[in-house]
Amino acid sequence: MIGGRILHGGDYNPEQWLEYPEILEEDIQLMKKAQVNCVTLGIFSWAMLEPKEGVYDFQWLEEIVDRLGREGIQVILATPSGAMPHWLTEKYPEVMQVQEDGTKNLPGKRQNFCYTSPVMRQKIQSLDRALSQKFGKKENVVLWHISNELGGNFGDSTCHCEQCQRAFREWLKKRYQTLDNLNKAWWGRFWSHVYTDWDQIHSPAPQGEYTMTGLKLDWRRFATEQMSDFVAGEIQAVRTASDLPVTTNFMYFFKGLDYHRLRDELDVISWDNYPFWHKRKDEVTVAMRTAASHSLMRSMKKKPFLLMESTPSMVSWREVNPSKLPGMHMLSSMQALAHGSDSVLYFQWRKSRGSFEKFHGAVVGHKNGSNTRTFREVTQVGERLMGLTDLLDGTVNQPKVAMIFDWENWWALEDVSGPRTDMNYVDSIFLYYQPFWEAGIDVDLVGMDDSLEGYQLVLAPFNYMYKEGYAGKVRDYVRGGGVYVTTYFSGLVDETDLCFLGHHPLEDVLGVVQEEIDAPCEEFPNTFSYQGVQYPAGGLREVIHAKEGTQVLSVYEEDYVKGMPVLTKNAYGEGSAYYLAAEPELNFLRRFTEDLLEELALANPLGVKLPHGVTVSLRIREDQCQSFVFVMNFNNEPAKVEGIGSWTDAETGEICQGMLELGPFQCRIFES
Ligand code: GLA
Ligand code: ZN
Repeated sequence: MIGGRILHGGDYNPEQWLEYPEILEEDIQLMKKAQVNCVTLGIFSWAMLEPKEGVYDFQWLEEIVDRLGREGIQVILATPSGAMPHWLTEKYPEVMQVQEDGTKNLPGKRQNFCYTSPVMRQKIQSLDRALSQKFGKKENVVLWHISNELGGNFGDSTCHCEQCQRAFREWLKKRYQTLDNLNKAWWGRFWSHVYTDWDQIHSPAPQGEYTMTGLKLDWRRFATEQMSDFVAGEIQAVRTASDLPVTTNFMYFFKGLDYHRLRDELDVISWDNYPFWHKRKDEVTVAMRTAASHSLMRSMKKKPFLLMESTPSMVSWREVNPSKLPGMHMLSSMQALAHGSDSVLYFQWRKSRGSFEKFHGAVVGHKNGSNTRTFREVTQVGERLMGLTDLLDGTVNQPKVAMIFDWENWWALEDVSGPRTDMNYVDSIFLYYQPFWEAGIDVDLVGMDDSLEGYQLVLAPFNYMYKEGYAGKVRDYVRGGGVYVTTYFSGLVDETDLCFLGHHPLEDVLGVVQEEIDAPCEEFPNTFSYQGVQYPAGGLREVIHAKEGTQVLSVYEEDYVKGMPVLTKNAYGEGSAYYLAAEPELNFLRRFTEDLLEELALANPLGVKLPHGVTVSLRIREDQCQSFVFVMNFNNEPAKVEGIGSWTDAETGEICQGMLELGPFQCRIFES
């Protein structure tokens, strides 16, 4: 655990309040009352830390860091590259991003810096080095937080300036060596798009090249590479006089950057979580998606992560911003822990007095100090976390099921001009994830480059692209006894978006031959039956043939494909592979998942069927001798879990036998 504790606290932006000493003093008192043990400082402080070029003023920050230290409050120190000061953008306009249509951004907002710009890198790194020297060895500083929500400037998160165009060409030269290789990889002879000079290459743009999918893929890879390099530069700078771990705050399933590449630079994964609770009365969809996001973050390093930001009440940037209902703040905080977080941190500690985020939820509002529902609920979370620290220290989640989620597949798949334009990768991931969430089975979300070792079941929905080496890895996994499930529109292209010719790369393992994919319109429905129940075949229907020896578990029931396989199973080596040819609905997946779990003798820790809206997640001590079962009720009404054995509540010691009654939005933690 970072700093030896489950962290509770969050973004503290005291530079807003330097002229209000009574507020700074009250902050400390209220933090102690709310059981805050850690705050993040400096995220947007560049203008206050370097008021003039090369002139640093760290005194105000040092006073606050030291004051917090005296009160036993730890500090995550951020580097302030997320928002640039006006002196910088005015003197060096090249630090600002250029949009894909060539529009040069004006100063302001945030996260709009050019990650290639040498001036930007040099200026931020000088400041980072000075911060490292000043704060890197302070006892209560525990972690470096590089920048803020990288790439998160809304819309296209890449910079298209001339510096970036030149760097892109250099990057391409390294990747392809010759233009001939590049033209082949991008299939340039089609539409006469052959490049004869590197300078002819420009980033994808709506008014320019937007059809060459190989170019677009490489542009996204390059953007990730540049950003990783930018981050690596900042990390090197903060390491000048410090060997503290580093993190940066990720955002959900953020399409702009391949987090699987960025994670390599980081010691700790952290992310910002703002689910849309209470959009509907039934919270299942939001709870399930949030669980998947936590699982994605945890799977990056297969160890605990930090919930870096969340709101204690409401956000301010959706069209409608409901407050968390009583109990939801506790439940959503426990949900993060259940899936592997070692913290509950907020944006922000105190509501701003002015400007953009003054009505965004915060622990302390504009009025009433600690006498608010939000403050009381935050305090309850803080108290509960204190009690959980010793219990959860050294525990991890170790799911037996993994799902492939890969950024490059995401980019390539959603760029396809193919059977449908509404193919949505992340929604598909959620669709396949939901039955596991409902069954109380945690799932790791791993990339194609990750190891499949230790998993009994791997699902790869919509796995359109196969990266180099991936097919071989899956083959070994199944041969060694793994069960693999993949679907329509999988294994079609290589890393440069060139279609495989002749065979599906896993034809031997899957035991099927793909013929074509159809996307029939609504008035042409089809169905398939599975275990005696009929299900609709969705908007993507592949025509496949089963090879000899492959079991056909279900077939199409209408039209020219009548009698052709929809679901197959092929035994291969010690394991087996399923192929699903038609886009399914959730109900089919529920039944199919149930059968898979039964086949693999996988059950949730309680060993019972869970009622609607209730799920469980398990953290296990690394030596396997103790585990903690989080049972969460996402219904705003009581729920009963029947048929459980005998369980001890890890927090109260109470024994629970046979039946568990959960209150509205309640989470209980049992020990075994
Ligand atoms: C992001 C940012 C924060 C704040 C919150 C508001 O997560 O990192 O600075 O703007 O959004 O929800
Ligand atoms: Zn740029």
